[in-house]
Amino acid sequence: MTQDELKQATARAAIELIKPHLEDDMILGIGTGSTANFFIDMLAELKDDFDGAVASSEASAERLKSHGIPVYDLNSVSNMRFYVDGADESNDQLHLIKGGGAALTREKIVAAVAEEFICIADESKLVGVLGKFPLPVEVIPMARSHVGREIVKLGGDPAYREGVVTDNGNIILDVWNMEIIDPKATEAAINQITGVVTNGLFAARPADVLFLGTKDGVKTIKP
Ligand code: 5RP
Repeated sequence: MTQDELKQATARAAIELIKPHLEDDMILGIGTGSTANFFIDMLAELKDDFDGAVASSEASAERLKSHGIPVYDLNSVSNMRFYVDGADESNDQLHLIKGGGAALTREKIVAAVAEEFICIADESKLVGVLGKFPLPVEVIPMARSHVGREIVKLGGDPAYREGVVTDNGNIILDVWNMEIIDPKATEAAINQITGVVTNGLFAARPADVLFLGTKDGVKTIKP
């Protein structure tokens, strides 16, 4: 199976999980990236069975709208049963690295609101220790150099993601060469740096379930 087929299989597993729970007034949280895109395309089949979605990026919002799925502002939504999104890395505790698509801040906000965070990813994303994938950090533009120096003090090698402006108007530093032994502590430490909007570690609010697309089928992993 190709990596895309594994991503499609995991998106299908998420569809099957949420399908029996859909209600006319339900709003779903939807993530960003190629795996989330497969999920959005499959969700179109069910668009008459729920009200609409909150998207974690402008790109996902556009894709949802192209299927005729209404997109809501998160501020108009008081509860959200499910958030479905991909990841760049996950450990077996479902602590994640996210933000490869630069949408980490909105992803983290929508995940914070959701009752259940369903992560969908192909098997290449499951790792023993997080950090081989460079950790994305969203930074206020004028703080770029300061944040970079502070990250070096924490043991990382920050690299400016050239040409990328987030949906929030900020920049991304990708932090290389960090072996993230304690994801919660690292998440908190980086978020403490003045000028950081947020970082792509999802450890304080991990996923609740991971559907992992493997060549032997989709595995369900819970912490
Ligand atoms: C975007 C993300 C994505 O979930 C992550 O990059 C995974 O993407 P893909 O499904 O394309 O592998 O965090 O900011």
